[in-house]
Amino acid sequence: MNTFRVLVINSFAKTFQTSCMKCVGSHKRHVFGTIQQRKSKPFPVLDGKVDTSAASFQENAAVMEKFIGNYRKMLAMAQAGGGEKAIERHKVRNKKFLATDRVRLLLDEEDSFLELAPLAGLGMEYGDVARAGVYTGIGKINNKYCMIIANDGTVKGGTVYPITLKKQLRAQEIAEQNRIPCVYVVDSGGAFLPLQAEIFPDKNHGGRSFYNEAIMSAKGIPQVAIVCGNCTAGGAYVPTMTSEAVIIHKIGTIFLGGPPLVKAATGEIVSAEELGGAKMHCSVSGCTDYYAETEEVGFEIGRDIIEGLNLPGHPGPQREPQLPLYDPTELNGLIPARNQHQMDIHKVISRIVDDSRFHEFKKTYGPSLVTGLAHIHGFLTGIVGNKGEITGPAAAKGAHFIQMCCERGIPLIFLQNSAESVAEPTANSGESFGNCLREHAKMMAAVSCAQVPKITVIIGNSIGPSNFLMGGRCMSPNFLFTWPNAVIGLSNTESLVQQISQEKIPKNLNHSEQLALESKIREICQREMSAAYSSTRLLDDGMILPQDTRQVLGKCLDITSAYLKPVASSYPVIRM
Ligand code: COA
Repeated sequence: MNTFRVLVINSFAKTFQTSCMKCVGSHKRHVFGTIQQRKSKPFPVLDGKVDTSAASFQENAAVMEKFIGNYRKMLAMAQAGGGEKAIERHKVRNKKFLATDRVRLLLDEEDSFLELAPLAGLGMEYGDVARAGVYTGIGKINNKYCMIIANDGTVKGGTVYPITLKKQLRAQEIAEQNRIPCVYVVDSGGAFLPLQAEIFPDKNHGGRSFYNEAIMSAKGIPQVAIVCGNCTAGGAYVPTMTSEAVIIHKIGTIFLGGPPLVKAATGEIVSAEELGGAKMHCSVSGCTDYYAETEEVGFEIGRDIIEGLNLPGHPGPQREPQLPLYDPTELNGLIPARNQHQMDIHKVISRIVDDSRFHEFKKTYGPSLVTGLAHIHGFLTGIVGNKGEITGPAAAKGAHFIQMCCERGIPLIFLQNSAESVAEPTANSGESFGNCLREHAKMMAAVSCAQVPKITVIIGNSIGPSNFLMGGRCMSPNFLFTWPNAVIGLSNTESLVQQISQEKIPKNLNHSEQLALESKIREICQREMSAAYSSTRLLDDGMILPQDTRQVLGKCLDITSAYLKPVASSYPVIRM
């Protein structure tokens, strides 16, 4: 609260006190009570009460438990890395630390780490690639947020599959958008050779990560490497493109072609250490700047490098964080087992925001979109949540609210839950559809041009155009997460199945053959529209549990506020 407002309220209170002294005591307390209350707590409290004993609540929670069980199974597969044999070889024969231990050594506290896309790489057409072969996330080193990209040497020698590349590039994209320094923990055999055609020649293929390093460095986003394994072929450029690199003796090597290739080409027999080891690169080639005898020393040097980056201080949240008044674990029972677009968005918000307080904007206008301000972990945020179809007025309200947040530098949180189906035009509805389309375009323009951080959580359906309007991947949100129950697709599952079946099922098949094919099509559609598919294909930055949403959003808000400066919008807010 600014000083002026405090003074005004105090003098106002004094006036009342003088006049009230003449009155009865209870009157005085009543007047003061009202004023004091408005001073201390902004935004009204939401009613988040639910009947946890209701049959529908229990049924919803039971369905969610199945989704969550599946999520935990996938997470365990991802965390198992390349499997026991590969881990044994990595630790015992190669005498190296695991990627997770390395990240632990770098970080101040493990708790600060926000792992990104842990499920990426499972169930690929070329097999399971645990954690896509690269452990990635954002954590604090010497109290400064850094993006850490650590190859997992236990997954096929840390080689780069198409999904590994996608994950590395996404991590760099997040780093660039949020201006987070990158630390590459390199241990990679370079390209996974059988799939070289899918990772080498195109714009967003292998060389793009080196391009990104240069571009980020030019923008003042520091790039640092710790070489604690092989940097073979293209991998050799990862440390070389950074501004500072550490290499570990007898563990780190950097070369374009290893000893077998040298022997084949020149007949020369040379050891990996002689060809591209720590001593050679620190004293002869100059490709690395710090020599470390052990991994522990190497990661200490890495932490010292971060200290020397002269990164700005972190502004922190505007307010003291407050827990919500309602239990976030109850969210599971609030997600309808059927027709999840009917989820009560206010009850969801009441379990995510501080003190369950929400300052709702245009509550009764376009009510299928809920907009308003709240604090999450003390950060002031603009919340945009949908409950079903985004009508014309709802989109107009969304555009207005988003512009307002941009004018004030308030980050936006999108809670996506669209209608099951996209409304079909009827004969006499041309005008209303045209109007709706126009309003959608306004909201889409506002979302596209928003210069504030955007964080999206798909809490239910992301079907049809609401994916775009509500900060879907195409709108470049700073982060995007999905709940395990999320459904993401062009249209609802059943209409997609019907349309594809009409196209694909030959008319000369008998009825039971047609039904069998239709059910196969349904299975594929359901799989491809699931949160599991989205997360393993890296169409999001991770699947998160409803109960963890507040924690994750709090970390993201902290991260986005660390290095980004508010950009003033160059246009006034236009009332839609
Ligand atoms: N492409 C495909 N598979 C590769 C690979 C590559 N570039 N490099 C290693 N692998 C596979 C190995 O065949 C092995 O598979 P397996 O577990 O099914 O037997 C697995 O990765 C682990 O390799 P291994 O050599 O046993 O492990 P390591 O930890 O001792 O050594 C490397 C890892 C990467 C240092 C070593 O395998 C190597 O030098 N590979 C060649 C790297 C190369 O030439 N890359 C050129 C890319 S352009």
